[in-house]
Amino acid sequence: MSNVVILGAQWGDEGKGKIVDLFSDRFAMVVRYQGGHNAGHTVRIGDKTFVLKLIPSGILRRGKQAIIGNGLVVDPAALIAEIEALEAVGIEVSRQLSISNRAHVIFPFHRMMEKMSEERPGRTSIGTTSRGIGPCYEDKIARRGIRMADLLDRKTFAAQYDNLVEEKEIIARALDIHEQMDFAGIRAQYEAYAERLRPMVCDTSRLINDAMRQGKWVMFEGAQATMLDIDHGTYPFVTSSSATAGGLCTGAGVAPTRIDGVVGVSKAYITRVGAGPFPTEIHGEAGQRIREIGREFGAVTGRPRRCGWFDAPLLRYSAMINGFDSMVVTKLDVLDHLDEIPVCVEYRCCGAALADMPATTREIEAIEPVYERLPGWTTPTAGISRYEELPKKAREYLEFLESRTGVEVGCISTGPERNQTIVRSGSRLAKLIA
Ligand code: IMP
Repeated sequence: MSNVVILGAQWGDEGKGKIVDLFSDRFAMVVRYQGGHNAGHTVRIGDKTFVLKLIPSGILRRGKQAIIGNGLVVDPAALIAEIEALEAVGIEVSRQLSISNRAHVIFPFHRMMEKMSEERPGRTSIGTTSRGIGPCYEDKIARRGIRMADLLDRKTFAAQYDNLVEEKEIIARALDIHEQMDFAGIRAQYEAYAERLRPMVCDTSRLINDAMRQGKWVMFEGAQATMLDIDHGTYPFVTSSSATAGGLCTGAGVAPTRIDGVVGVSKAYITRVGAGPFPTEIHGEAGQRIREIGREFGAVTGRPRRCGWFDAPLLRYSAMINGFDSMVVTKLDVLDHLDEIPVCVEYRCCGAALADMPATTREIEAIEPVYERLPGWTTPTAGISRYEELPKKAREYLEFLESRTGVEVGCISTGPERNQTIVRSGSRLAKLIA
């Protein structure tokens, strides 16, 4: 067993929720290290479906510790709603959950600022989740943000809050925005949230490092995903946090030397929600069919997801940035209906092969994907839990992905349930979670 990070290889929604939930019984602690309630991790257990937005999926396992790290931005109203929904089904959230005292706090005016910037004429609309994530991170980087520890500090919170509000009012006036907000009411409401959350707030970096020192194993759960990372993603069509594996060190307060393995999650095809370049996007009926079979609609916003073919150059880039030891391929069964499955094996631009992932939207939009077409297996794979039982052509498809990405496929998911999963024996992944 080891300390492992599991994260999405493309633009999110790769099916991490189920995988983290499945493996979490082997770890003492599951830690989120970035993002906020823009994430939506769907976990199905029996006849119950849970959509977790802020709280790591580890919470669903009795006795496991779930950590909201310092790298997150926390909307207390959203967090309390999630806590109450879990408590309603008997989960002992207050015993299992800890929230970093250094995580930043989202306020209603962050959502207002986001709406304003998304809708302003002439500004590139990112197609965000409208949760105030970006503006909260803006305040963090500008060193005027309010953290959980500040929210809990009765002596200083009011003054800090009033300063922040004053700034927002200046910006709103400058931009000719007249939306009224009850700032005093919001302050009182947040003071009440503080009391509700106080027992769970602590120095989570200390908690995680102490657990590791005691020989407990920790899993780090990425949110959003590699291509939505603020530095390495398809900027500016990204989220505002460090969603790659490196983000866990700063976002959880853990040294890189403590991490033993990095696992990337990808669907057998890929998807993207929101705006931005997508080289292997499938337009027309084929994309629509995959969206319907794969139920590709956002877990948080309900928006239809754009669907695309597996993109090996993108996966190679993602593997380089994150250092994937192994890959989990989810939703294999969604491709069961296809006679032929295209896989992008190379990027070309103006007739020449591209060696690297371009940095600009203009260049990524100009990519001409080169496809190899693999024969489909056209038999049901849903629910198969042994590698040898997969149709030969499905195994060949997976082995093709391995050969073109240089990353082993250590695990395959063939349905939403915990038991609809194959962990390949002898794989690096099997060793990491053994
Ligand atoms: P934000 O994170 O709300 O600022 O949105 C920035 C971009 O990231 C938008 O394209 C969103 O659709 C995308 N995004 C944010 N969170 C997720 C997620 O959990 N899954 C997929 N896309 C996401």
